Amino acid sequence: MDTTPLGMPPLCPQMPVSALLTWLQTFEPAHLAFLFATADATRQRNVGQEVHLRGLVEIGNYCQRQCLYCGLRSGNLGIERYRLSTPQILQAAHLAAEYGWGTVVLQAGEDAGFSQQSISEIVSLIKQQTSLAVTLSLGERSHTELAAWRQAGADRYLLRFETSDQALFNYIHPHQSSQASRLQILQDLRELGYEVGSGIMVGIPGQSYLSVAHDLDLFRQLRLHMVGLGPFIPSPGTPLAEAQAGGPKLRDGLTQAELAGDSESELAYQQIPNDELAVYKTLALTRILLPKANIPATTALATINKPSGRLLGLQRGANVVMPNLTPSEQRRLYNIYPDKACANETAEQTREGIEAQLASIGRGVSQGPGTSLAYLDSNT
Ligand code: 5AD
Repeated sequence: MDTTPLGMPPLCPQMPVSALLTWLQTFEPAHLAFLFATADATRQRNVGQEVHLRGLVEIGNYCQRQCLYCGLRSGNLGIERYRLSTPQILQAAHLAAEYGWGTVVLQAGEDAGFSQQSISEIVSLIKQQTSLAVTLSLGERSHTELAAWRQAGADRYLLRFETSDQALFNYIHPHQSSQASRLQILQDLRELGYEVGSGIMVGIPGQSYLSVAHDLDLFRQLRLHMVGLGPFIPSPGTPLAEAQAGGPKLRDGLTQAELAGDSESELAYQQIPNDELAVYKTLALTRILLPKANIPATTALATINKPSGRLLGLQRGANVVMPNLTPSEQRRLYNIYPDKACANETAEQTREGIEAQLASIGRGVSQGPGTSLAYLDSNT
C-alpha cells in the first residue's frame, strides 16, 4: 500500500531532482515523519541493524589550501600546527583494533609534508600489523600517489565534492583546482579499486535548496559507496564565517533577500539553512537514493546537537559513526570548525560514550571491516 502523503512525490531511488527538491522544502510534520521512517526502513532492509565504527585519526593539521570555510586553511596563521609521527599513528591504529573496530581512517589537511613514501609506509605497516581496513582522507592528491597508496593496501578514500554548484565551488575554493578535477579524482579512485566516499556541507552561504537537490543527484550519478554530509558550521576567522556574521552579503554581491526571491518558482533558489533539519532531510534522501551505501552520522551533526544529533542521524538513514582516536593533545588542534563534539575527551571516553548511545537505541556495533555493500555489489 502506498502511504506517501497526499500531494508529495514517491520516495524511491529513481526520484527526479524536482521530487528531491519538493522533499527538501517541506516542513510539514507528517511529511517529515514519513521521510524519516522511509529512510530508517530502507537502512534496516539494506544494511541492517549494526553500526560500523571507524577510528578517526587526524594525522596532521597543516594545509596548503585556502578553503573559505575551513579553520585549517593555510591563511589561518593563528593556529598551532602538528603532524603525528609514524609510531603515534600506528599506536592509534592499534587502539582501533583493540576496541574491536574494523577500520582506521587517516585524515589530514592537504599537506605535501605527508609524502607518497611516508603514507605508503604507514599504510603497509597498519596492514601488516592489524586486520584493519584503511581509509584515507588526505585531500586532492596526484594519481601516482593515490595508485601507490592503493598498492600499499589502502582500501577506501574520502573526498567530498562539497557542492555540485560549480560557481559556488569555485568561490569557496580560491586558487584551487576546479570542481571538474575533483570529480575526475573520484572517478580515478573508483578505477583504482578504492571504495569511494564523497559528500557535501549543507547550508553553505549561497547554497540553495535546488543546489542540494542536485548534490543528491550527483551522489547517485557517482554511485558512491560512502556519503558523508554535515551542516556548514561557521569557523571563526575564516572568510565564510565573517561573510555570514557580517550580514547578508553573499556570493556575487547578492543579498540573502535577493537570493530568496518571493515567488513560488524562486523558492528553489532560497538559501538552504545550515541547521539540523536540513541535514536530516538530506541524509534521509541520500539513504533512499543509495540504499546500500555506508553513511555516517557525522561529527559536524553531533556538534550542532550534542545530546542527540548522532542518534537522530542513525535513526534517519545513517549506519556508521567515526569516533575520534586522535591523541588528546593534537585533537584540540584539529579545528576545522569550533566546539567540535568530543574535542575534549580521551579515546576511551569517546568509546564508552558512543557504545552507550548505540545501546540506548538498540543498535549493535558491527564486527569486521564493514565494507560497503554498494562496493561489494559493484564488484560481483
Ligand atoms: N563546517 C562544517 N564542515 C566543514 N568542513 C570543513 N570546514 C567545515 C565547516 N566550517 C568539512 C568539509 C571537509 C571535511 C573534512 O570537513 O566538508 O570535506
